[in-house]
Amino acid sequence: MSGIIQKYHQYLPIDEQHIVTLHEGNTPLLPVPRLRDAICPKLAQLYLKLEGLNPTGSFKDRGMTYAVSKAVAQGSKAIICASTGNTSAAAAAYAARAGIKAYVLIPKGKIALGKLSQAMIHGAKVIAINGNFDDALKIVLQIAAQGGATLVNSVNPDRLEGQKTAAFEICDVLGSAPTHHMIPVGNAGNITAYWKGYCEYFREGKITSRPRMMGFQAAGSAPIVDGKIIKHPKTIATAIMIGNPASWKASLAARDESEGLIDKVTDREILKAYKMIACLEGYFCEPSSAAGVAGLIKYAERGYFSKGDVVVCTLTGHGLKDPDRAIEVSAKLQTVRPTLKEVLKVLKI
Ligand code: F0G
Repeated sequence: MSGIIQKYHQYLPIDEQHIVTLHEGNTPLLPVPRLRDAICPKLAQLYLKLEGLNPTGSFKDRGMTYAVSKAVAQGSKAIICASTGNTSAAAAAYAARAGIKAYVLIPKGKIALGKLSQAMIHGAKVIAINGNFDDALKIVLQIAAQGGATLVNSVNPDRLEGQKTAAFEICDVLGSAPTHHMIPVGNAGNITAYWKGYCEYFREGKITSRPRMMGFQAAGSAPIVDGKIIKHPKTIATAIMIGNPASWKASLAARDESEGLIDKVTDREILKAYKMIACLEGYFCEPSSAAGVAGLIKYAERGYFSKGDVVVCTLTGHGLKDPDRAIEVSAKLQTVRPTLKEVLKVLKI
């Protein structure tokens, strides 16, 4: 067992001695026939890439293992990031593993509790700001420029280098590329990283085609789709509540080169997909993660897909990060007296 740096070392150069890993990556590519039949039966196959099964429960671990390893190799003693939660959880965990400091800025009241608990338990210095993610990113960029700590947001290119390995894994498992890749878009780093991964495998002849990249923002927080910075982004999908994405331009290139698209889905559509994944296939992702599947539903309804298409949806983070939302959207919990009769009355069996 090893992490993504050892597995894909020719793509992620670094001295063995500097590698900081929690054995991330190698996440399941789960075939989901019941979800496929419910959404778009004409697809040859639908897969979910379960990135919530990384060590800190999100895809961020792929980028963080490489960014922190590189920081350590360069002698850095501290890392810093702004985050909607998952980046901070990963930064805190990998900093702990490396024995260096982590500084984290988060938008107050806008990150899921599970993510906050992760950053705190790993010993990061966490500061909440009365502002949004974009405000936090601006501040950490300035601090990093002063040399106080290494920036590990996805503007650090090492993050995207690590994250591209998810595309490698998909191709390694399928033996080819999917026809379409559906993915949530927030700061737009991950869609950029996947495209980079597919392109590298394509250039090397490991795959003979590349997928259309299909990115989905939340409707109240869709600067790329709306073509303008959103000053006050709003969505229940807090992980992707970003009004001015750092990788905006690069994600447009991924969209256009792949002949794909970036569109938006409403909170209602996101929550519908979130529940379908959980109820039809038994996998629990966080709401933002479901944006790609919500996009799949939207485009299936429009008749966008062709018979035989092979679609992969990345589920970016684990559902346990945001249990409050799961309880809120589920049937009300009933409490009864501890007797067989009372229980049977409620169960109706
Ligand atoms: N899904 C989840 C669960 C995320 O946490 C994020 C980003 C995304 C999707 C979007 O990925 O930014 O590469 O387009 N979370 C960042 C964070 C912003 O701070 O944890 P992206």
